[in-house]
Formats: sequence, C-alpha cells, structure tokens
Amino acid sequence: MKAMILSASPRRDGNSAALAQAAARGIRQSGHEAELLYADEFLEGFLRDCRQCRREDGTCGIADGFGDVFLDHYLPAEGFIAATPIYWYGMSAQLKAFFDRAFCYVSASYPEADRVVNALMGKRIGLLLSSEETYPDVGAGIIHQIQEHSRYTNSTFVGHVHGIGNSRAEVARDPSQPLKRAEEFGERFFSAHTSDYRIDSERSGKVWGPSDGAHA
Ligand SMILES: Cc1cc2nc3c(=O)[nH]c(=O)nc-3n(C[C@H](O)[C@H](O)[C@H](O)COP(=O)(O)O)c2cc1C
Repeated sequence: MKAMILSASPRRDGNSAALAQAAARGIRQSGHEAELLYADEFLEGFLRDCRQCRREDGTCGIADGFGDVFLDHYLPAEGFIAATPIYWYGMSAQLKAFFDRAFCYVSASYPEADRVVNALMGKRIGLLLSSEETYPDVGAGIIHQIQEHSRYTNSTFVGHVHGIGNSRAEVARDPSQPLKRAEEFGERFFSAHTSDYRIDSERSGKVWGPSDGAHA
C-alpha cells in the first residue's frame, strides 16, 4: 500500500519535516510505499469562491500544483499522514488550505465529483504534530478536527505523534523521542489495530490476539 505524507510547515528543515521523514522511513521499512510532499512546493493559495474561478469545463481555475497532487497523489493513496506545526493552537494554514481546496473537486460542479468522493473515502489517516508548548491538550483541537475529517470520509484515524521543539529540527532533542515514535508509527501505520465501535458493533470481548505481541 501507499501513503502520501504531507509536511505542511513552511520550514523545509523544520520539525514537521523531521517527523514526516521519520514516518516515511517507518512505512518503507514495513514494506509499503511512502511519498513525502511539501505543501509549499505545490500549494500557493486558499480556496476561493468557486463561482468566480471555476473554468467553463468545471475544473478548478487556481493555477498552482494542488490539482495534480490531489488527483494523482492524494486520491490514489491508501494512507494519508499530515505533519503540521501547531500554530495558534490549530493546524498550519497550509494544511487547512489543503483540506479546503479539496472542496473544488467534490462539489457537484466538478465533472468527476463522484469518482473523487469515492477515492476520498476509506483511507488510513495519521497526524504528526510539533509545538513549542508541552501541555497535553495543546494539539487537541487539531486531533479532533482530523478525527472528524476521518469520520466524515469513512476513513480510519490511526493516531498521532506529538514532538516538542521550536527551533529547526529541535524535535530530535525531545527526550520523549518523537522521531523514534514517528518511525514506529510509520512501521505500524498500515497494520495497527484500530476500533471505533457503535453500541451494536460485534466484538469478541478481547482486543488482542496471540499474533499481536500481547503476553498471556
Ligand atoms: C505562527 C506561529 C504560531 C505558533 N503557535 C504556537 C502555539 O499556539 N503553541 C505552540 O506550542 N507553539 C506554537 N508555535 C511554535 C511552533 O509550533 C513550533 O516552533 C513548531 O515546532 C514549528 O514546526 P516546524 O519546524 O515544522 O515549522 C507557533 C509558531 C508560529 C510560527
């Protein structure tokens, strides 16, 4: 399987990029494919009023690389991992714009909206956060938003890794070893056990089987 990892910080050598590279390493070590992309290389603008900039054939008229990445890299991938710095207790504008711009392709005016909606669903989704502050809920708003996005798109939120750092790549010095955790997260990204029960979900009463590494 293949995961697209999006580093959504303007700092190419920053903490999001370091976490994203670690997760990509882990995914590749587990025998899957990982493609790491940097938002600033293809995303140059926010969502606009589609009525103003949609072309006559229904396609998006914003002339940057988002359409190609979204259609040819994001949609075909079975997994998506977003790496974002925490900005004002939220995600970076780059990551938000990435999600917002998808609107042009799922709206009914886009000629292949049905195909896009189908391809948007059913992904495994992960999140990598970096922040200066350490308090546990500093990233809670972002985690909640990605969880809701996953629910809305019938996808599976696998989890998140949070590293602390402020200067470039300083997460490497975080004693909680977020780069190691991001690599392990990548290794387990496509195989990790996930659950999101409804009250009538069938379940065995146990979570771990003998093959999950649990001790009896
Ligand atoms: C505009 C801006 C807003 C920020 N807001 C927060 C914040 O609300 N909480 C926090 O802990 N760190 C905040 N930070 C610090 C970054 O989250 C931190 O430096 C992060 O590691 C940067 O990641 P990067 O190297 O991938 O860019 C902010 C930084 C910037 C530039």
